[in-house]
Amino acid sequence: MQDKIPTAPDALAFMRQRRSYPRLQEPAPTGDVLESIFSAALCAPDHMRLRPWRFLTIEGDQRDSLGGLFAAHEHAKDSCASELILQQAHQKALRAPLIIVGIAAYRKHPKVPPIEQALAAGGVLNNMGLAAYCSGFGAVWRTGSYAYSKIVKAGLRVASHEDIIGYLYVGTPPTWDRQASAIEVDDYVHAWPQ
Ligand SMILES: Cc1cc2nc3c(=O)[nH]c(=O)nc-3n(C[C@H](O)[C@H](O)[C@H](O)COP(=O)(O)O)c2cc1C
Repeated sequence: MQDKIPTAPDALAFMRQRRSYPRLQEPAPTGDVLESIFSAALCAPDHMRLRPWRFLTIEGDQRDSLGGLFAAHEHAKDSCASELILQQAHQKALRAPLIIVGIAAYRKHPKVPPIEQALAAGGVLNNMGLAAYCSGFGAVWRTGSYAYSKIVKAGLRVASHEDIIGYLYVGTPPTWDRQASAIEVDDYVHAWPQ
């Protein structure tokens, strides 16, 4: 039993200074570090403890297979898509050494509608980005058409009743050069009634 609830002011500082890093290179977190990112992130709020989520990790040569799915999506969208468009789509899977695919795996529950389950899964994916940052790595959450593509979903074995809520690209930025922009709390938070 703890007689004092621990506080973590450093955690608030980390949250304030976190930025997304679109360009990421090796190394990505591995082994125990990656495990601890996952175990921390999975402690997210979750109505009725449904655990309505699953995550895929894609790294190394497997990213080429993901790139192939991205290119196949572009080809299906436009069968005349140029080789350049297909190559660019393929390259998008190589933008980071590790990609985590976040999936909302909906459970049937009378009190927990799908939107709550997607939000819970999103909470975990957001936590993963934050936990990666706290562990010395950069990340960026992306969606775009590849998150909603039937071809990509089928290739990743994501069921039609599941949703890809995002791709978390994880690695090391060439430089930690992104500044946190000032946020005016009063712009978004108001006491009610005003
Ligand atoms: C659900 C979701 C989907 C997103 N999809 C994309 C995307 O497809 N492409 C992109 O550049 N940023 C996307 N973003 C935004 C970035 O992850 C990032 O938050 C944004 O660029 C702001 O940067 P910051 O996190 O440093 O404030 C998405 C964010 C969320 C929450």
